[in-house]
Amino acid sequence: MDNIKGMKRTHYCGDLRSSNINEEVVLMGWVQKKRNLGGLVFVDLRDKGGICQIVFDTDVDKEAFEKAEKLGSEYVIAVRGKVSERQSKNPNMETGDVEIFAHELRILNESQTPPIYVKDGDDASEALRLKYRYLDLRKPSMQKNFFLRHKVTNTVRKYLTGKDFCEIETPFLINPTPEGARDYLVPSRVNQGKFYALPQSPQLFKQILMVAGMDKYFQIVKCFRDEDLRADRQPEFTQIDCEMSFVEAEDVITMIEGLIKEIFQEVMGIEISLPIKQMKYDEAMNKYGSDKPDLRFGFEFVDVSELVKDSGFKVFADATQPGKSVRGININGQADGFTRKQITQLEEHAKTYRAKGLAWMKVTDEGVTSPIAKFFNDEELNAILEKMNAKSGDLLLFVADKNSVVYDALGQVRLEVANRLGLLDKDKFELVWITEFPLFEQDEETGHYSAAHHPFTSPLDEDIDRLHIEDKSSLRAKAYDIVLNGYEIGGGSVRISDPVVQKKMFDVLGLDDATVDQRFGYLMEAFKYGVPPHAGLAFGLDRLVMILAKVDSIREVIAFPKNQNAICPLTNAPNIAEQEQLDELGLALNLK
Ligand code: AMO
Ligand code: AMP
Repeated sequence: MDNIKGMKRTHYCGDLRSSNINEEVVLMGWVQKKRNLGGLVFVDLRDKGGICQIVFDTDVDKEAFEKAEKLGSEYVIAVRGKVSERQSKNPNMETGDVEIFAHELRILNESQTPPIYVKDGDDASEALRLKYRYLDLRKPSMQKNFFLRHKVTNTVRKYLTGKDFCEIETPFLINPTPEGARDYLVPSRVNQGKFYALPQSPQLFKQILMVAGMDKYFQIVKCFRDEDLRADRQPEFTQIDCEMSFVEAEDVITMIEGLIKEIFQEVMGIEISLPIKQMKYDEAMNKYGSDKPDLRFGFEFVDVSELVKDSGFKVFADATQPGKSVRGININGQADGFTRKQITQLEEHAKTYRAKGLAWMKVTDEGVTSPIAKFFNDEELNAILEKMNAKSGDLLLFVADKNSVVYDALGQVRLEVANRLGLLDKDKFELVWITEFPLFEQDEETGHYSAAHHPFTSPLDEDIDRLHIEDKSSLRAKAYDIVLNGYEIGGGSVRISDPVVQKKMFDVLGLDDATVDQRFGYLMEAFKYGVPPHAGLAFGLDRLVMILAKVDSIREVIAFPKNQNAICPLTNAPNIAEQEQLDELGLALNLK
């Protein structure tokens, strides 16, 4: 094996252009591909910057040529050579106008045949990709994702620093935070029988930093939540966490909009116009069935309950009492775009979200084609068409049920239709603030109330005196989410700084003094010594970067993610603990 003594890299592989012709260069990287054509060996050399073609020619340097014949995929080499105009130019390669005629080759390291092909668009399974993540990360597309992620965090730090924010680290070994997911627990050796929790977010610490007079805080920070995993959820993920003193919701929103604008400008070269649209939670649910509506396309819900309440279609008529509804979406111009079979597939999709069916109507010049048309008289049909703004050629889809089922099922049908019509355009970015969230969530079975955001979120001013009312579903919070292309990329709220209001919140949540004292007594204690009004927000960095990188999972923008079973296939974490470690911690296993 050779070394690099006396050899200094002059360029990245991807940098070389016609303007470098005749220069002597030194490149170092991995062998992407080797072709042996008799007296010539061609090597595609890859480094973080890209790929460049190297030619080893017996007539240029016999020794280098003979060594090159031995190269295999992913060997690490250093090459000294002269940049020449390429004989057969390759317009698909950024460096396709040039090639390097090598007169020195050093083999710095060999490689076994790699278990996955280091190439974009290969079809290796995710299990293999994560096990051999170091090979996977060598792919140009992956390198691009991480460079983009770095550009985002760098922009965030610059922007917030310029706005007087101070980055402060908060502890990872803490008391549980009330963000609503399950905690990861860490046993204490020194305090046997006691446990730390890993933070679900720095929520309480950042509020205490406001009490501490830090005024504007941010942190790019890992958070830990033991929840079911999805494409946009990992057990450990990163937040851009912010908090500000002496502000109201609009101040946070304006500050964060400035940050979003800056990120799009710096990282994507895209101008976002401000202010970003705002939509109240109720409107989002009524129109899109979701508190994170994807606004890249329309298909807004239309409530036709009033029009069908006396109709002969029992399924519809029965769904018009309070708390239920019949809603439809108009898929403009797609009456011929979906076959019956495809509509049946959409219906199956709706059923996985608890809908009992998916009714449909195709509007034609001759009238309405639909298995349920016979249940309606002309007046009813015309009223539905009019309310849904339907014209000939349109496809109408309906769900009738409890509102929560209608929202979910029709909302998912809306997304699936958009997916099938190719409307989930990754080059389009639609931002919206969702505001005035419900303050509480009610458990359907127990009737118990929990905080929809967290228990420190302030009610709307007009709802503070209504906290005691029986049905709390109409109470609203000073909470806001920022949504991008149907993903919740951030959320925050104005916090309660009045101990009387905080006490009322705890009462509603069924937290007695002892529980409050045990769980967040320290916060309540801090709140006795002068709390500034404060508010904040946290971005899900992984989700934001995922969308900017135009990929479908946050695992594509996290260097070493966990798989669907919360396992790290590279290191095999989690793993068993030695008996000795358990003994030290005073723990015994009681496995089910
Ligand atoms: P919240 O719980 O809404 O708010 O989290 C903020 C943002 O973090 C992202 N996120 C996740 N990303 C990946 N994997 C996960 N498991 C995951 N969970 C959440 C989302 C979300 O919008 N302390 C509050 C913020 C505040 O009130 O200031 C909080 O954590 O993009
Ligand atoms: P049925 O009379 O049950 O065969 O239903 C007739 C049509 O109405 C079928 O296309 C069903 O998919 C649809 N349908 C049934 N229940 C519902 C519902 N709750 N909401 C919307 N459509 C439904």
